[in-house]
Amino acid sequence: MCGIVGYAGHRAATPILLDGLKRLEYRGYDSAGVAVLDPEGCLAIAKAEGKLSRLVERLDGHQPIGVLGVGHTRWATHGAPNTVNAHPHTDSSGDIVLVHNGIIENYAALRAEMAERGHDFASETDTEVLAHLIGVEYDALRAGANGFRPLPHLFAEAVRRALKRVEGAYAVVAFHRDEPNLLVGARQFSPLVIGLGQDENFLASDIPALLAYTRQAMTLEDGELAVVQPGGVQVYTLDGQPVVRQPFTVTWDLAAAEKSGFPHFFLKEIHEQPDRLRDCLRGRITEGRVLLPELDGLDLRRVKRVRLVACGTAYHACLMGRTLIERWARLPAEAAIGSEFRYAEPMIDDHTLVVLVSQSGETADTLASLYLAREQAAQTVAITNVVGSTITRYADTSVYLRVGPEISVAASKSYLGQQSVLALLALYLAQQRGLMEADEAAEMLEALQTMPDEIEALLAHTDRVEGVARRFAHVRSFFYMGRGPNHPTALEGALKLKEISYIHAEGYASGELKHGPIAMLDPDLPCLAIATRSATYAKTVSNIQEVRARGAQVVALATEGDTEIARHAHHVLYVPATPEALSPIINTVPLQLFAYYVAIARGCDVDQPRNLAKSVTVE
Ligand code: G6P
Repeated sequence: MCGIVGYAGHRAATPILLDGLKRLEYRGYDSAGVAVLDPEGCLAIAKAEGKLSRLVERLDGHQPIGVLGVGHTRWATHGAPNTVNAHPHTDSSGDIVLVHNGIIENYAALRAEMAERGHDFASETDTEVLAHLIGVEYDALRAGANGFRPLPHLFAEAVRRALKRVEGAYAVVAFHRDEPNLLVGARQFSPLVIGLGQDENFLASDIPALLAYTRQAMTLEDGELAVVQPGGVQVYTLDGQPVVRQPFTVTWDLAAAEKSGFPHFFLKEIHEQPDRLRDCLRGRITEGRVLLPELDGLDLRRVKRVRLVACGTAYHACLMGRTLIERWARLPAEAAIGSEFRYAEPMIDDHTLVVLVSQSGETADTLASLYLAREQAAQTVAITNVVGSTITRYADTSVYLRVGPEISVAASKSYLGQQSVLALLALYLAQQRGLMEADEAAEMLEALQTMPDEIEALLAHTDRVEGVARRFAHVRSFFYMGRGPNHPTALEGALKLKEISYIHAEGYASGELKHGPIAMLDPDLPCLAIATRSATYAKTVSNIQEVRARGAQVVALATEGDTEIARHAHHVLYVPATPEALSPIINTVPLQLFAYYVAIARGCDVDQPRNLAKSVTVE
């Protein structure tokens, strides 16, 4: 989830690009770069590792001069976050410049093909491969290549041809040194908008990058390409058909635009979960199989048991993951809290696979657990959101969440990413061990792939959860319960409420109710019961009745179409039907929203809750 800016006009491009990137830093900040072309065809590229401020410092006093250019702020998915991997990238001639946001799934095959033709690559990125591919197409066109050639500009046609060969997700902006007034932008599953000015035009990943210069904008849809020049913009489909598109006027102010119009990053990040989940799954499920090439270097035949270790929300993901690994891969699996594991003298050896889960990749207790696992000769896998984070440097291998930077202190999209990657890991281990029925595996893969659409449908109607949340905004305490794979969902729901609304909340396994917590229940202690379709549904209904009998209000989370549950619970929140094993992914979403709306009704600072830090790098 990187940030892209492009400018073609009459003003100095560099300050406009840097300003645009500043507005897009929420999309990524592990490296940044700009490329600027002057009207004589003189090209300057500057890049720096780290935040944008490093690049700004580097350019202080000698900014590249030119009236056309591109900029990029990176959130790494391929290759470490360093200067070499920073964008812009060029082709082998150095004349074609490209910035990219997304994941090119077939990049390894394309890279091998280019390497065979004698291309050398400077970086480890998928983006550079695309730059080379455009170069090949451009050279062929210049040499008089035949065939259907719908676009009037040679360079735009080369980009079109190259993109026809690309699988995956991208938003790209490119230019050629020989065509100094021309930017070409295109998108497929990653955002790119066009800004329309007076004798100047813009491309950007998001509207905040445009707002200082224009409020006139135009969308670019998936599978479309834009030819952007100072005097005008033409849009085509990737098949070369011209598209007529009406501009629109942006009415948001800058602060609202940075949160895509949402009042808080937490809510924005909840709402972007369908897209981020698509990014997370992209290229990892093909022809009924899970592809996790990141695990190729491990000796999985040696693994006799799995230990999953994490802190906070990531620990809840581990609890779900351990259930799936045991159920599907039939490997003994346990989840542990980092701060406990590191001092527990855990039994690990070279037959143990230790899976460390951390959004930031920097949590001190999770890292200490990793070091311990290494000392004991275990094989280690990091599941993290941050390429190049400390955890990735010490683990044997890393699988990335690919959900983009999470700004809100309370985790949301990273949790769904962690659950999904762990589900993939469980399916992958089952696949390797040949232990899962093909029908069941196919059903789970199908369910994972449709999950983003289901979550999107759920997020289109949040009024009900908001209405129910407001009724409970002034309670002192809340009880959450769930069973099986949704026990961790209850823990995570309670954690969200604690973190952002400061209401005391407890998550429990429903079956444990009668072993203690039932003593607390009274009309002042409401209960949120996860009662979606499951093997233990009838038992959950009994638990709800036990709660109700003590006078407590019950909010049930149930599967759409379940009318029976309304006879037992005071309020019902519905989610689409999903196989029980994967239901924690979608079930989490209403609980995030519930916590959000309670917190808002209480006037809490949702994005920066008191006393909490996004990343806890000390013990
Ligand atoms: C902090 C954050 C939590 C997070 C936990 C683990 O406590 O406030 O939201 O779940 O750290 O962070 P990690 O980056 O390791 O996932």
